[in-house]
Amino acid sequence: MPEKKAFARLPGSVIPSNYNIKLKPNLQTFTFEGDETITVDVKSATNTILINSVEIAIQSATFQAQGSSDISTGEISFNEEDEKVTFKFPAPLPVGKGELKIKFTGILNDKMKGFYRSKYTTPDGKEQFAAVTQFEATDARRAFPCWDEPAVKATFDVTLVVPKQKVALSNMPVISSTELNGDLLEVKYGTTPIMSTYLLAFIVGDYDYVEGKDQDGVIVRVYTPVGKKEQGLFALEVAIKTLPFYKNYFGIAYPLPKMDLIAIADFSAGAMENWGLVTYRETALLVDPNNTSSHVRQWVALVVGHELAHQWFGNLVTMEWWTHLWLNEGFASWIEYLCVDHCFPEFDIWTQFVNNDLGRALELDALHTSHPIEVPVGHPSEVDEIFDAISYSKGASVIRMLHNYIGDEHFRKGMNLYLTKFKYKNAFTEDLWAALEESSKKPIGQLMSTWTKQMGFPVLQVEEKQDGKSRVVTVTQRKFCADGLIPEGDKSQWMVPITICTASSPDKPATSGVLDSKNLTITLENVKASDWIKVNSGTVGVYRAQYSSESLERLIPAIKDKSLSPSDRLGLQSDLFALARAGMVSSVDVLKVAESFINEDNYTVWNDLSSNLSTVGLILQYTESYPQFQSFIRNLFRPISQIVGWDKKDGESPLISMLRELVLTKLGRNGDESVIKEATKRFEEHFMGAKILPADLRKSVYISILSDGNEDVFTKMLELYDKADMQEEKVRISRSLGTVRDEGLITKVLDFSLSDKVRSQDSVFVIAGVTGSVRGRQLAWKFVKDNWTKLYDRYRGGFLLARLIKATTEDFITEELAKEVEEFFKANPAPAAERAIQQSCENIRLNARWLNRDGDKLKEWLKSK
Ligand code: BES
Ligand code: ZN
Repeated sequence: MPEKKAFARLPGSVIPSNYNIKLKPNLQTFTFEGDETITVDVKSATNTILINSVEIAIQSATFQAQGSSDISTGEISFNEEDEKVTFKFPAPLPVGKGELKIKFTGILNDKMKGFYRSKYTTPDGKEQFAAVTQFEATDARRAFPCWDEPAVKATFDVTLVVPKQKVALSNMPVISSTELNGDLLEVKYGTTPIMSTYLLAFIVGDYDYVEGKDQDGVIVRVYTPVGKKEQGLFALEVAIKTLPFYKNYFGIAYPLPKMDLIAIADFSAGAMENWGLVTYRETALLVDPNNTSSHVRQWVALVVGHELAHQWFGNLVTMEWWTHLWLNEGFASWIEYLCVDHCFPEFDIWTQFVNNDLGRALELDALHTSHPIEVPVGHPSEVDEIFDAISYSKGASVIRMLHNYIGDEHFRKGMNLYLTKFKYKNAFTEDLWAALEESSKKPIGQLMSTWTKQMGFPVLQVEEKQDGKSRVVTVTQRKFCADGLIPEGDKSQWMVPITICTASSPDKPATSGVLDSKNLTITLENVKASDWIKVNSGTVGVYRAQYSSESLERLIPAIKDKSLSPSDRLGLQSDLFALARAGMVSSVDVLKVAESFINEDNYTVWNDLSSNLSTVGLILQYTESYPQFQSFIRNLFRPISQIVGWDKKDGESPLISMLRELVLTKLGRNGDESVIKEATKRFEEHFMGAKILPADLRKSVYISILSDGNEDVFTKMLELYDKADMQEEKVRISRSLGTVRDEGLITKVLDFSLSDKVRSQDSVFVIAGVTGSVRGRQLAWKFVKDNWTKLYDRYRGGFLLARLIKATTEDFITEELAKEVEEFFKANPAPAAERAIQQSCENIRLNARWLNRDGDKLKEWLKSK
């Protein structure tokens, strides 16, 4: 690994208190002019001011001390590598207040960061550009020179000079709008609260909106592409319910007079919590009754819930430095579920948490190349790197465990203490623990630092003994490693809140305790010898559990008759698959357990089981047993597919629609003839316009026909792609395209991914779409290598590049390929993807070991079926 360069925060000798910024974007030349007057406090006499700035040309920088008529001109020098600029003044600046005035120009780039341009088509077919911003984590410095660190908070007075007919938005409401000569308008916005630079936003473009008010009179608007304002109604409903929910939960009102949510056509992340002006990908905000799937609808609710939570947790109280990013993201990723559960109980969203977040966290965090939740970061490329499943999903998972441990009442009280104490300021992880410790009177700091400062998590060995009418349970912890190999000298140990449910108390813990050393013994009274017990009731704890075969035998009937709760069924098989991959249990035994899910009817359980089976499928793809494995999959999924059928029933829960999508897709992809036949028929009717497919069936149909399809099907899909008006539909099609098997067609998909028909924000996922097959995977990796310069430039090394690398490499299965991947990135470094590359290589080696160890046994077993 290359040496990390020493990194220094900005000096504290001069600090800003207010920025008065005027920006004039030019949507024809893709440039902008700016000037800013920054009110600063000179804390100690110095003749230099050092701030952040990158890809900005600075014409002048002058300083005037308060009460003085002298204006001193700074000599400007850039440090591109560090993204900094120094203004050197002829004499030391006097201690006290002063004004720093800077004139500058910049480019509205096409890299989706800083102040950038986003392309859209108006209803009359004209191509247009909007000027929009994305500043987190460290790109405000691309729009205006500033102290671009989260702890350097200031107020902002924004002025935008824009073409008269455009919509122009910023964090605060407009306070004045003046016509200038020509077609220009000078729009001034109210002063923001004291806040961090990464939360500022400016938008100039064509949009429609729908508007409402929440119960406290906050004006909420959802901005959509022109002509599509109805697609904003669902998000509007969610936002209007969500703001009062958080106000009530935190005990603190939303402090701004308005809340805008806006769909941006080109957007690299999913959404961004700019204070009062939250930006979204179109697919994370827009809902059309005829074209939006239940899954996307649910996603919109989660994303809105997530970003609005940041308005308090992140915006009002901000992490002191990026090391504590997880505070923002982990917390928001947890509370978005609480909010959706409140607004839409029909999604049974907490069960989905176990799959979406806990599962993802445990998978990544079992790698030797994982990292602790709190991780020292310096240079911007290292900051990009930590927007990963550890900060988000492990962060959310440890908070869920903590919330469960101390209870909602104490948790809420602690949140209120924390937010009240640090509002308009910054906080460290320890500050949150202190507040929760105060409210709960439990040793939160001690317990939680074992989770945030240490990487990984434990596996608990569960031993049980019947003793008359009691069951004596001993749990012993050790670090869980995906390869089953604990590094020599490893001393990690966690403080683990433990719960146990039993046959007579299946839905809530029969008992609980805290494991604070190597082991813990708990005695359960009144347990019959035949009763099952399961540790980690509700799968809330961030650990895996391993049982003896006798204990597991007792649990199997409880899977079959579903007396174990859905989260527990899910957690049980998830642990078993991970243990199998680590070589700690037999993979054949785990497939036998999978067969006991034959009566399963829960969407989320199926979803998790399905992806776990795919990890076994992945290694078997490289063997002659694959057809038998596919037949095993078809047999397992067929009964449930027959129950859910093809057609939605009146009043059906969205979870059934999602389950239908899941099982039909699984069967279609695994060559189920009857599913492919029905999909083909329904596709033809859809294509001819005779009977339009409901949104919830489209993914299943597209994937079924493409994975069995020829050039004709492929061409038809591209035709639908061209005709599709909604990004959701384009994305659905383009992500499915890669399931084609024919090599010529796979190549076409790859070329298509970088064509001007696909937005940069989506290319990565189109390429990832071809990595499901052995041949596709090889071709995708070759494609990445062949187009490396272009891809690197397109994403400027950001987090989308890390995702691309992961998707195209981690499923390989030989040591040679692991080496090849390492070599390639040694020669072509991608700093923000460094850790992702190591993780990919570790996964490749894990796959190789797993196949070597269990391949033959799996083959024998599948043959015997
Ligand atoms: N603060 C992030 C946006 C962000 C992500 C900025 C990466 C810079 C780099 C935002 O709150 C967020 O977490 N967005 C998520 C969606 C969310 C629902 C998990 C995203 O963009 O994936
Ligand atoms: Zn977030």
